[in-house]
Parts: sequence; C-alpha cells; structure tokens
Amino acid sequence: MNIKHLLTEKTQAAFVALGLPADTNAAVTVSTKPEFGDYQINGAMAAAKLLKMNPRQLAEQLVQKLELADIADKAEIAGPGFINVTLNKAWLATQLQLAAADSRLGVTANTTPQTVVVDYSAPNLAKEMHVGHLRSTIIGDAVVRTLEFWGDKVIRQNHMGDWGTQFGMLIAHLEDKLAAGIDLEQVALADLEDFYREAKKRFDDEEGFADKARDYVVKLQSGDVHCQKLWQLFIDTSIKHSDEVYQKLNVTLTHADIKPESAYNNMLQGIVDDLKQQQLAVESMGALVVFLAELADKEGNPSPFIIQKTGGGFLYSTTDLAACQYRSHDLNADRVIIFTDARQALHFKQVELVARKAGYLRAATAYDHCPFGTMMGEDGKPFKTRTGGTVKLAELLEEAVVRAKAVVQEKATDLTEAEVADVARKVGIGAVKFADLSKNRTSDYIFSWDAMLSFEGATAPYLQYAYTRVRSILRRAEITDSFNATLNLVEEQEKQLAVKLLRFEETLQQVIKDAQPNLLCNYLYELASLYMTFYEACPMLKDGIEPAVRDSRLMLSIITSRILKQGLDLLGIGVMERM
Ligand code: ARG
Repeated sequence: MNIKHLLTEKTQAAFVALGLPADTNAAVTVSTKPEFGDYQINGAMAAAKLLKMNPRQLAEQLVQKLELADIADKAEIAGPGFINVTLNKAWLATQLQLAAADSRLGVTANTTPQTVVVDYSAPNLAKEMHVGHLRSTIIGDAVVRTLEFWGDKVIRQNHMGDWGTQFGMLIAHLEDKLAAGIDLEQVALADLEDFYREAKKRFDDEEGFADKARDYVVKLQSGDVHCQKLWQLFIDTSIKHSDEVYQKLNVTLTHADIKPESAYNNMLQGIVDDLKQQQLAVESMGALVVFLAELADKEGNPSPFIIQKTGGGFLYSTTDLAACQYRSHDLNADRVIIFTDARQALHFKQVELVARKAGYLRAATAYDHCPFGTMMGEDGKPFKTRTGGTVKLAELLEEAVVRAKAVVQEKATDLTEAEVADVARKVGIGAVKFADLSKNRTSDYIFSWDAMLSFEGATAPYLQYAYTRVRSILRRAEITDSFNATLNLVEEQEKQLAVKLLRFEETLQQVIKDAQPNLLCNYLYELASLYMTFYEACPMLKDGIEPAVRDSRLMLSIITSRILKQGLDLLGIGVMERM
C-alpha cells in the first residue's frame, strides 16, 4: 500500500477530467502539520500556471473532480491552492488490516523487477579495512537489502582493489625478505598493515626500490606465475580480514560477491584499443588520454581521463570502463549503483561520460555514483586513532561491543550472561551502523560513542529498546503471533500511528530511488516515537478497557513491532525480545 501513489493516481485522473495531460505533476507530499491534514496535493499551482489560470480556482475544480469517496473525509483548499487531504479512519483501518495479513507487511508486489548491480565495500587489499570502508559497506548493504525486499534482482559486486601499483611494492619487499631467509608462512601471519608500511617507506625513501616495484607490477599484470603466487598470499590474508569484519558487521557480502579489479584484467587491452580506434583516446605525453570537453575547467581546458600510462600500465579508470561494459552488456543491468566517498565524484563522472560515448554503457542502464561524506572525530577532524593512525575497523567494532555491554549492564536486571553478550553485540554494532546510516549520506558526520549509545534520540539502542517494550506489552497481554483482531481507529493517536505504519512502502521506495537509508532511519525513529505517544494515550492493559478496544490496540502494537523489526533488518540491525 502506497498512499502517496494512490493520491497521485487519483489526482492525475482528476487532471485528465479537466483536460490536462495524464502526467501532470500531482506533487503529493506528506503534510508537515496536523492542521494540514495527512497529505497535501500541491500540483494545482504549477498546472494553473500552464493554463494561465488562477491557481485557487483550478484547485477548486480539481477538488470537484477528485474521487476520494471512502479514502478521505476532507479535501480542503488552503493558501494559494494547496489541497489538504484528511484520510478516513475506517479506510485506514481496512488498509492496515490487509497489511497485517500480509507477509510483506502491505508492501505491494514489484511488477517490474529490475536488475541492479551494487558496487560497495570495495576495500583495497593488502591493507586492513579501515573506517573509510565502513560507510560504503553499511550504506551499500542497507540499500541492497531494501532492493531485495522490494523484489529487484540484486547483483552485489565487491570491487576490491587487488591489482594496483601497491602490489609491485609489496612483492618487491617480499622478495627481499625471502632472499634474506624469512619464510612465506611467517609473512602470511605477520601484521599486513606493518608490512605495508615498511614497503611504503622503502618505496618513498630507498634509491631504486620504486623502479623495482614498477617492474613487478608489469610482471604481475602480464601473468608472471611467480609474482601471482606471491600476490595471492596478500590477497588471501586480506580477504580473511575482510571476512571477519563483514561477519562482525552483519553485512550480507560473501566470497561469491567478490569481483575484484583483477577480474577485468583481460578486458583492459581491448578497451584501450577500442577507445583508440573510436578516436576517443589520443596520445598525450606518452600516455593515452580521453579529453572531456564536458568537464572543462574555467579556462576551457578539457578534463583529462588517463586510460593507459606511459610504459603501458593500465589504471583504476581503465578497469572501471571495463566494469561498465561487463555490467551493462553482460549482466544486463538496468541500474548500477556505486558507493564511494565523495572525493571520487569526478572519476565516476568521467567514467560515465567515456563509457556512454564508447557504448560500454547502454542508454537503458542508469549509472549512479552515490558519494558519501567523511567520518570525523569529535575534534572535527577526520577520524583517527589517538596517535594519528588510521582506525582499524575490526578494533573499532570490538570496542563498540565492549562499550555497549557496559551500557546494557547498567540497565538490565535479569538477563543471563549469554543474553547480555547477545544484546551487547546487537546494540554495539547496531549503534555504530545506525549512527552512520541515519546521517544524510552526503554530509560529513562526527563519530561519537556517547551519542550513538544513548537511549535517547535517534539511535539504535532507542529503537531496539522501543521494540522490546512493544514485545513486552504483547507478552503481558499473552498475545501470540497468530493473534488477529479487528482494527478500529478512534483516537487521534491511533490514527496517526496507523498512517505512519502505512507509510512503510512509501519510505522504502524513496530509499531505493535516492539510495539514502537515512530516510528509513528517520521513518523508524518517528514510528517508535509515535508508538510511545499512542501508548501513553491509549491504555491496553488497564482494568476496565473494553475487550474490542484493547484488541484493536494490541493489533496496532503487533504491526508496529513487525515493521520495526523488518525495518531494522533492512538496515542490518538486530533486535531482541528483552534488554
Ligand atoms: N577500492 C576503491 C577505494 O577504496 C573503491 C572502489 C569502488 N568501486 C569502483 N568501481 N571503482 O577507494
């Protein structure tokens, strides 16, 4: 059930009856204040402009033609031509009753499923995952879960950085270690991060080392067996690390989703030859470059997009062009969504432009780079360890669970040891995820343990606690999951809660369209808050409540608990019965 859709359809039918085109924008929005009803139809103003008519007059005609019979009690004109719609309680109760009987909680079937490739997480291997990859991983996973729930065909792609120049440097350093008698086993068990740092230092400081490193890259990329064997060691060890992080984070990525940079290696020469042949790429100072006039700077210099380096090496950019070809043509994607930090925005603009010109991206494939901002420390600077190093994700998540445990123990009275451990894990990981997911994707945000672990405000603990409260009410009322009663919406708080519950699909659609899980976070927070208001105003367990009233309210509670649980699950956040 999508009330916004329904009102849009009704409004468009009314537009047609007035002689306007069927696709006239109905501009239906959720009302911001109770005195404006539940929804507003704002399309009369723009349509009146087209017709050179007085907007209020058009709004009046529109209301005449609107067939809202049992859906709404009122459709009132306000201001210059807004139409405020107040929904009918009996109609809402019927819709919600249908949603309650449905395993999809009233979310309509997806009649035109799309194939969506989602490129997320994508850590650079041979380094441990750090907090920078947290955002891509969890935002991507929330969007993936939502797309799947909606019924699209999702292809996850973990575009791991396993093929860059850093591997030349690592192999060169490893070769020297082996020559000095250190065995491979030992290296495999050592801290990758330390190994990387040592190699990088030599790369920057040691005469001749950088050249050696570059030679190894060329060898590796042209299929040298020995180099590949050493390379594989770094890859295996790194993937073990990322597995551990994914598991801790409760994200859905598996080995089968790894489609790393190296997987496109055998396509790169073909891409480069083709771009030359199409005369899109030209030689410039020894490198092959596509110049993009569309992205010219202020002086009119076109933006250079290098696809092959001097000396023949391929780049990150070449690989992304190959990925376009593969996703659009081989996987037949209707949409490609890529989550990286905002600093890569230009890169993806360039990739899309080149790929469209060259025919690697079909016109029917949407290409959405979804950037995100930086995670900041409480000092307002990019999040670092106390000594200024990058924060390892695995360690951060461990700390979250420890901190959550302390918070939970302060509150809990009668949980067993095992329950405390389970709750601490769900609250700790949930808190880190929700704090991130609830922020507008494109803004930077401040990472604060105290804020994210608070039971007040929009946090995971608040929502998890709200869920346990609803569940405890249901337990006290001795209600089972199969309980079913007739909904009857009488009080305003009951109605408000019902409208919110029926807005679940609308919210998911918006999350999908904008790739913005924060919309779902807001929705769940508002739902939980409305439930609390309802609970205060509409007693269920007090003596003297009429059974039919009580049962209707318990039904509202059941649906609320189911939507809270489902919604949090789409964010990859667990709930529990008690905390
Ligand atoms: N490995 C890259 C990084 O850490 C992200 C890759 C994103 N995906 C892509 N197709 N380029 O910045």
